[in-house]
Amino acid sequence: MKTLKLTFVAMFAAAVALSTLFTGGVRSQGGPPDDQARRQRFTHNGVLRDEGPPNPNASNSVSGRGGTASTAVVVGATEAPAGFDNLTNGFIAQGPPFDTLNEDNVVAGRSFNDDRFIFEEVETVADGLGPTYNAQSCRECHQNVATGGASQVTVQRTGRTFNGQFFESLGGSLIHSRATYPDIVEQVAVEDTTRTFRISTNTLGDGFVEAIANSTLLALRDGQPLNMRGTANLVPVLEGNGEARVGRFGWKCQHASLQSFAADAYLNEMGITSPLFPEENTASGKFVGYGTDYDPVPEPEDDGDDLEAFAAFMRATKAPARGPQTAEVQAGERVFNQIGCNVCHVASITTAAPGTVVNGGAFIIPDALGNKTIHPYSDFLLHNIGTGDGIPFLPTPAYAQTANQIRTAPLWGLRTRSRLMHDGLTFTKQEAIQRHGGQAKSVTLRYYALSGVQRAQLLAFLNSL
Ligand code: HEC
Ligand code: HEC
Repeated sequence: MKTLKLTFVAMFAAAVALSTLFTGGVRSQGGPPDDQARRQRFTHNGVLRDEGPPNPNASNSVSGRGGTASTAVVVGATEAPAGFDNLTNGFIAQGPPFDTLNEDNVVAGRSFNDDRFIFEEVETVADGLGPTYNAQSCRECHQNVATGGASQVTVQRTGRTFNGQFFESLGGSLIHSRATYPDIVEQVAVEDTTRTFRISTNTLGDGFVEAIANSTLLALRDGQPLNMRGTANLVPVLEGNGEARVGRFGWKCQHASLQSFAADAYLNEMGITSPLFPEENTASGKFVGYGTDYDPVPEPEDDGDDLEAFAAFMRATKAPARGPQTAEVQAGERVFNQIGCNVCHVASITTAAPGTVVNGGAFIIPDALGNKTIHPYSDFLLHNIGTGDGIPFLPTPAYAQTANQIRTAPLWGLRTRSRLMHDGLTFTKQEAIQRHGGQAKSVTLRYYALSGVQRAQLLAFLNSL
């Protein structure tokens, strides 16, 4: 009897030890019910809506060594307005003078200035901020040199990789750097050795990017030589019943719609839940949502109005404006094209026609955004250039390949940034180019073969963006 009992206890202890070992080394991908609900929402329906013909048909025809033409421009299209001036691109009216607005008279959705006010608004605990968060307002991370721009603020992501499979940290791969209580600030587990920073990207001009037809991005991909071909990341539009669309926003092309991205950012950067993301984040796996002492506001903390205001503000921003285009700058762009930088950093793209229905039926492209030519210097596709951070968009089989892929960084507005690449750890443009390996290796080798004069021209061009 006694021995039996002992054996049982020993077996039980061994089982506990084993399971601890297991959760220590390999985490279940099931996660708490909230995680599962969130992942479920990130399952797209697999059907790409016809958003019109590619603009234009396979125009990224690549010839010669690196590709000569890399534009997707349509006859009859007009230039998208550009500027760092806090002025509307025409999508919505400018509205009352910005400095006359305050918390009491602001009206979500009324105008550019109203929606800019909401994008800049500092949220508090009473508004639903936290319990874990990274900053109090969208503008804290999107401001340089006008509201909506990029910034030097980075966020922290961690997890662990086991047998080639990525496992998120206990509270998800995003480590929130702030909390509303000192004892719930998330900490990084020493075993979570897959780590990176991700720097805040630009949102100015993103209404035009949202208005690019799926077919245009797919045609850009299909025009790229096989060894450099990008990946179109299909993601669900959250406000469009999970309809599939080619993702184009964020370092992993993790969203195709600005409203979906706004919901994601409101929750994950600021801790504010909304109808699109009603589950509160945990603190390293510990539930801290409504019902605990940490969170006084029931979900959803935003009824959805703020999400629409954020999306409308971003849709109404002008594209980043170019600097002076001197003869040296023009010579530099020729070098850029000759050596094949433009295979990924595509100079010109035209948006879908006005009236095109996108985002699962939730958005119709208006005149202000349709048939506009932009100069983003990106293909909005994912590439593996050897800089991958090992952290996929989500730890599900559908997104596993995104672990070591990064979106071609749009180079518009480059002269406003001094911390480069997804991790913000590159200090100069020359070093950014030197970090390009993998799918960009052949182009980087051609960069090394340039003369001193050509390199100076290339740099002058990059400094004009
Ligand atoms: C703590 C800093 C921070 C805050 C606050 C923040 N963001 Fe961001 N934002 C980022 C970072 C970092 C990225 C890139 C994230 C990535 O791809 O992993 C990003 C990317 C984006 C993008 C994608 C732009 C593109 O084309 O790549 C959009 C859109 C965006 N944020 C909107 C918002 C909105 C709306 C808010 C407010 C609700 C907000 N952000 C608040 C840091 C922040
Ligand atoms: C195969 C596709 C590809 C080619 C070819 C390519 N790039 Fe890139 N580029 C990328 C990707 C992807 C990133 C983002 C990488 C990261 O952040 O880890 C990037 C990032 C950059 C950045 C950093 C921008 C920022 O905002 O941080 C610069 C500058 C840049 N590229 C310039 C060039 C130049 C110049 C060339 C030609 C010599 C070139 N690239 C060729 C894909 C490419």
